[in-house]
Amino acid sequence: MSEIREIKNGRLYFDGCDTTELVKQYGSPIYVMSYTAIMDRVNELKRDFLDKYPGSRVAYASKAFCTVGMYEILKKNGICIDIVSGGELYVAKKAGFPAEMIEFNGNNKLPSEIDDAVSYGVGRFILDGINEAELIDEACKKYGKKAKIMVRITPGVAASTHDYIITGKKDSKFGIPLEEETFFGVMDKIMKYDTLEFEGLHMHIGSQLFEYDAYIKSLDALMDWVKKIYEKYGVATKEVNFGGGFGATYINEERKPYSFFLEPLMKRLKERADEIGIPVPLASIEPGRSMVCEAGLTLYTVGQMKEIKGIREYLAIDGGMYENMRVALYQAEYDGLIANKADEPKTRKVSVTGKCCESGDILINDLMVCDSVERGDILAIFSTGAYGYSMASNYNNNPVPGVVLVKEGQSEWLVKPETYEQIAQNQVHCTLI
Ligand code: LLP
Repeated sequence: MSEIREIKNGRLYFDGCDTTELVKQYGSPIYVMSYTAIMDRVNELKRDFLDKYPGSRVAYASKAFCTVGMYEILKKNGICIDIVSGGELYVAKKAGFPAEMIEFNGNNKLPSEIDDAVSYGVGRFILDGINEAELIDEACKKYGKKAKIMVRITPGVAASTHDYIITGKKDSKFGIPLEEETFFGVMDKIMKYDTLEFEGLHMHIGSQLFEYDAYIKSLDALMDWVKKIYEKYGVATKEVNFGGGFGATYINEERKPYSFFLEPLMKRLKERADEIGIPVPLASIEPGRSMVCEAGLTLYTVGQMKEIKGIREYLAIDGGMYENMRVALYQAEYDGLIANKADEPKTRKVSVTGKCCESGDILINDLMVCDSVERGDILAIFSTGAYGYSMASNYNNNPVPGVVLVKEGQSEWLVKPETYEQIAQNQVHCTLI
């Protein structure tokens, strides 16, 4: 990744593009995504997972960064996608994404979303509750189709990460609890409906993880139920989905390569399948953050500077919590750099604040910047490629910034910036007033 970010003539370059020039050309704030950095991850996944374990699948978790352009990159490279809403399906259709390469996750898929997905021919449904079996069956009958089903289990393992992004612990709104009556209640339904084809089990234990032991523990719990399924129905589970959650680097955390997690998981999968006496199930994963996080940065123009003597100095930028909610929501930490003064010594401590009317609208609590920083300079905040654009809002009626794709010195819009007109387009004059 280091060559993607470089400093030349005192300026920050990203995938060969001078970031200061990007702001001149496209304005600010803007999200910038590096094609080369995304492809680094795609190629790593191909080399260390897809090519190494024939039949395995990667389904990129769209929620991290859902755009037509991202889907086009994935489609070209044989990477499937995981969607969780009709909105993500809509963008996938717009990108011409093949239906069979889509899997549908989510703890409360709406009947209309299920209908839409079945009619499009979505490849896999990750079942997250008993009623979904009925809804999918109904839609399949309506369209004369069959649906492949994976069952999401709650392995009961608490991975170590922020509380809001743990999903595998026992008390969770996600997955089917591993308890005989509930689990087999769901399985019986799947086996009963001939519109549904049981493919396998799915887990996702949390996000931003750096160790593999919680994955192994969860896989062990999952495989216990693969065994029970085999004993009860004589059915060998065809596929096991390990979910996503592979950590990314924001500041000092050291990102681990995919193989760090996947090698022990694949080894354990084989051991457990051999023990049960079934063929080794195909493996699939759903990485989101790790594929796009470091591939993105956000560029801002420095505005108001305000010093509270003896306490702190605020540096305000033209973005804020509406385009990056992660700091307010998870106390996430980021690093940044004054992009047009990139090699000046960093001697001045500032708090980077947004333009929203909210005291918690801070993007970086303490950032060291160069002494000469002033209004009009360009600030880059790094590692914003995941869950930045996708979680943006219109708070204070701020338009969602555009996304620029950069590739070896070239650039173009991937998503155009929202306009005031678009924000207000559904505002109508009400007759009751
Ligand atoms: N699969 C499932 C079923 C998921 O729920 C998620 C994320 C993923 C895959 C992808 O996980 P990843 O590889 O990105 O860690 N908004 C939060 C993250 C929420 C993650 C929700 N589920 C954040 O900004 O940190």
